[in-house]
Amino acid sequence: MLPQNAMLILYWSHVLYGRGMRVERLTGVLGAMVHVDDVKVLTDSQLDSLREIACEHEVIIIPNQSLAPLEQVDFSHRLGPAAESPFIEPSPDHPEVIKVLKEAKDGNAFNFGGAWHSDFSFQPAPPSFTVLHALDIPPYGGDTLWSSMTAAYNALSDAYKEQFSHVAAIHTARDAYSPKMQAIHSGLSSMNIVCDETANDTEIHPLITTHPETEKLVLFFNRAYVRDLMGVADEIEKLRLMDWLHLHTTDAKFTVRHKWSNGDLAIWDNRSTQHYALNDYAGFRRELHRTTVAGTRPLQ
Ligand code: SIN
Repeated sequence: MLPQNAMLILYWSHVLYGRGMRVERLTGVLGAMVHVDDVKVLTDSQLDSLREIACEHEVIIIPNQSLAPLEQVDFSHRLGPAAESPFIEPSPDHPEVIKVLKEAKDGNAFNFGGAWHSDFSFQPAPPSFTVLHALDIPPYGGDTLWSSMTAAYNALSDAYKEQFSHVAAIHTARDAYSPKMQAIHSGLSSMNIVCDETANDTEIHPLITTHPETEKLVLFFNRAYVRDLMGVADEIEKLRLMDWLHLHTTDAKFTVRHKWSNGDLAIWDNRSTQHYALNDYAGFRRELHRTTVAGTRPLQ
């Protein structure tokens, strides 16, 4: 048993006053709570610090915030211009805001974000950050999980690091938003998800990318949108590798799970994480507002 002083030191060593903000790590791998009075009034230099903290911890949760849709848009713009959000009809009054909403009456309908993915990785330049503000959280369930693709890269064997540096991933929204998927989205009475043929387009990104801000190497994979690999000749080996990559990148040891409270504002880095919204709150309403920030083309 450690003496009480040593235990206190251990506790406080994960609560860091990084760059003037109280940053509390959530796991040994990714995720942090950042304590800020009001994100709406951050100075430019505080905002720069928050961005650095978000890149470093890959997902941050800022509790007790209150942003009207336009205020969330303004906050997101401070991280960068808005990203294009295809297939999902935005809020009519605020075209940059997506209401992530499942009504109590929608029961067990498939939820938005209910599969491991990195936002819109099928685009030529997928979003850098997503900002999600919790407004109406069910009494239980509806947690979100994130996994670190940086940690997943670091844990690869040298042989896989070498092999994957010659592999590219083919990203497409085909199995999420092409017309054959329309029925699956129609169970959400308050979200209008419009599937169309453009979902069959493909985009090629390196399997190993370099994060443009931290310069860390990332295993840039997600099973929702990566439907093929280039640089693996054998078809059976290709399927085996895609299944392996999914299991590896979403291994529990690379994840953090957040139980939302109303007022939480999450910012995650799509260049280094995947996420997954759990759908275990049938009979309750869940509403969060989402904005996305434009990114750049992923590079090796
Ligand atoms: C999303 O994938 O953007 C939604 C995440 C969530 O609802 O928790």
